[in-house]
Amino acid sequence: MLFYTTWSFLAVTSGSLCTQLPKLAGQYPVGTVSFELNDESRIDPLAPTPQPRALMVSIFYPTSKFAVHSGNYPLSRYMSSQTAAALPQYLGTSGDAARVLTGSYIDSPPITNSEDEDDDSGSPVLIFSHGLNSSRLLHTAHLEQLASRGWTVVAVDHTYDAAAVEFPDGRVVPWRPTNLDDFPNELAGLIAVRVADIEFVAQALGNSSEVPFRLDRVGIFGHSLGGATAAQVLANSDPRFVCGANFDGGIFGPVAKAGFDKPFVQMEAAGHNRSTEPSWPEFWDHLGGFRREFTVKGTLHSAFSDLPVLRDLLGDAFPSAEKEQLGSMAGERLLEIDTAFMHAFFTFCLKDGSSSDLDRLAQGMFPEVTIPQYT
Ligand SMILES: *[C@@H]1O[C@H](CO)[C@@H](O)[C@H](O)[C@H]1NC(C)=O
Ligand SMILES: *[C@@H]1O[C@H](CO)[C@@H](O)[C@H](O)[C@H]1NC(C)=O
Ligand SMILES: *[C@@H]1O[C@H](CO)[C@@H](O)[C@H](O)[C@H]1NC(C)=O
Repeated sequence: MLFYTTWSFLAVTSGSLCTQLPKLAGQYPVGTVSFELNDESRIDPLAPTPQPRALMVSIFYPTSKFAVHSGNYPLSRYMSSQTAAALPQYLGTSGDAARVLTGSYIDSPPITNSEDEDDDSGSPVLIFSHGLNSSRLLHTAHLEQLASRGWTVVAVDHTYDAAAVEFPDGRVVPWRPTNLDDFPNELAGLIAVRVADIEFVAQALGNSSEVPFRLDRVGIFGHSLGGATAAQVLANSDPRFVCGANFDGGIFGPVAKAGFDKPFVQMEAAGHNRSTEPSWPEFWDHLGGFRREFTVKGTLHSAFSDLPVLRDLLGDAFPSAEKEQLGSMAGERLLEIDTAFMHAFFTFCLKDGSSSDLDRLAQGMFPEVTIPQYT
């Protein structure tokens, strides 16, 4: 992939941008766009003053090799310096995260059918939901890897329960402290807002003539509270949402007791399982469709994000308190594992793949991943 090398070279010689996320491992180069979506039908229940709910969205998608070769599209930076400065708890205060380059080309056009050997026209879309007090941007490395395997992935920031959301006009909306003393009812309330965010984004993108992706069959996945959000989205009756995955999130809200019948996968941190997580046993018993749980050795709860990759890239600039939330597994290995499992699972439930391709991953290819055996 000559174009890739050329761009990295230009990036290095252009000065301060000197570190890049792990190379895209899939067969497609990736394009990305970010934009604001306003839900005029909803007054934002989390905003300090009455206003429509405003959301930031990023999309990662397989892009045209011809367009990338043309050299007209720059690689996207991991995040702006403003956003990096608003996330010191995750990224420290060096500002180094803003100097990291992703592997995704800004505004590069989506791949055309004639260019795509697999002819994935009308390929289903995946929507990703971040954890409480986190950010969609802290999953960029993961989502661009999935896009390079042929997926169009939409990531949504849940304004006010995200740590910081930067809008195109430059304003950065901070985390709004929530009264978590009322746990878990408060979380159930946040999930209701998040579910409405996801449903709105799916509708708005599906309605827009400018969006060249189909949103009639959607996979939904997320980390932590985002995983609980995915579960609740699947439990609601909207048939567009076909299947989903939860990265290590406790389950709150009505879905915790009601479950659903759609395919669902849980990726779990070491020691976090149905014996130790109080919200999982009842939820699991009410999943009536295909379901799998996998445990990833050497991980803690926050490992299911880009933070391990950033820890490995940023070295001493990465905050030591956050290091303690991640576990020992190398960032690049986690990226491979998470991408392989999501690719296999969503291929099974959205592209008529075989579930044995998913099960095989935990039986050899990734010895760090096991299926918990309860006695
Ligand atoms: C969210 O992050 C902010 C900033 O680091 C911190 O002050 C706050 O305690 C966090 N809240 C929760 C619930 O984690
Ligand atoms: C999408 O279109 C449907 C049908 O016209 C309409 O009911 C819905 O409000 C639209 N939603 C958004 C978010 O644009
Ligand atoms: C669940 O986690 C606990 C705590 O680490 C561990 O002792 C137990 O063996 C785990 N259960 C399974 C089925 O893996």
